[in-house]
Amino acid sequence: MKKLHECLITLHNLVAPHHYRMVLQNKDLAIHSSPGQFVMLEVSTGYYPFLRRPMSIERIFSDGVSILYKVCGEGTKILSTLSVGEKINVQGPLGNSFPIPEGYPHYLIVAGGIGVAPFPALVEKILKVRGIPPEIILAGKDYNHLLCEKDFKQMGCKIHLVTEDGSAGQSGLATDVLETINTQGETIVYTCGPLPMIKNVHKICVQKGWLCYASLEAEMACGEGVCLGCVLPAKMEIENEMMARVCKEGPIFDTQVILWDKIGDR
Ligand SMILES: Cc1cc2nc3c(=O)[nH]c(=O)nc-3n(C[C@H](O)[C@H](O)[C@H](O)COP(=O)(O)OP(=O)(O)OC[C@H]3O[C@@H](n4cnc5c(N)ncnc54)[C@H](O)[C@@H]3O)c2cc1C
Ligand code: FES
Repeated sequence: MKKLHECLITLHNLVAPHHYRMVLQNKDLAIHSSPGQFVMLEVSTGYYPFLRRPMSIERIFSDGVSILYKVCGEGTKILSTLSVGEKINVQGPLGNSFPIPEGYPHYLIVAGGIGVAPFPALVEKILKVRGIPPEIILAGKDYNHLLCEKDFKQMGCKIHLVTEDGSAGQSGLATDVLETINTQGETIVYTCGPLPMIKNVHKICVQKGWLCYASLEAEMACGEGVCLGCVLPAKMEIENEMMARVCKEGPIFDTQVILWDKIGDR
């Protein structure tokens, strides 16, 4: 059964060029949401675009959730035109959530560009259940693409800023910083961002012996495990194939489960 909610848009702000934050008010959606899960938004009530657009849950409030999104095509362009006070149909929460296992003195987040979207909710949850502020590598093309820095600072996180053009923080890539981090005790890494970045984060974590969870993306239709439109090659069997559905077994995966050699750099 589809989990559909009519949500009131109570905030819709431009937070960086082509990037918006939207707050969707709906108590039922909020109560059932966990960090790492996503929603599918009906950006238009007409036939175009036909499919809902998936977005990570950025934060969970008592009466709603927020999303953080980048305008990259027709669907997100239409989404960006919606106003506070309008209603939008939302399917969700969908997918699994970030595991936060006990016994890890160090939680490390590696976020690239809009891949930062699921992490404010995760940081809040880690603080609540473990009392430890995660360390964050926040990377982007340039200063404008470093989102949520202020929120993470307020949450007490140690932040490493990295930009490709050196306009803020260290010049380079998120993985350049990750290579240099040496921690005491067990470390758990959470990552989301461009696929080449995630692949390299996975490789570094394997070398360092760190457990790594990634939030992965795929184009989606049903969002609930039925259409098999969102599969990735993986070390698990679904319908006699070695694959995983991003919408059902994911979007959060232990990166050791994914068959990275069979995935290009889309
Ligand atoms: C689980 C999940 C969570 C996501 N969370 C966020 C988020 O928090 N913020 C955010 O900005 N985006 C997120 N995305 C990506 C977002 O869904 C797509 O950017 C969006 O659907 C594009 O719609 P569009 O109509 O604007 O673009 P389209 O016109 O459909 O496509 C424009 C470009 O985006 C690519 N694209 C389309 N759909 C996806 C997709 N599902 N994943 C990756 N690339 C896609 C296309 O290949 C094309 O290059 C998420 C995707 C998934 C699967
Ligand atoms: S989107 Fe249909 S199975 Fe995942």
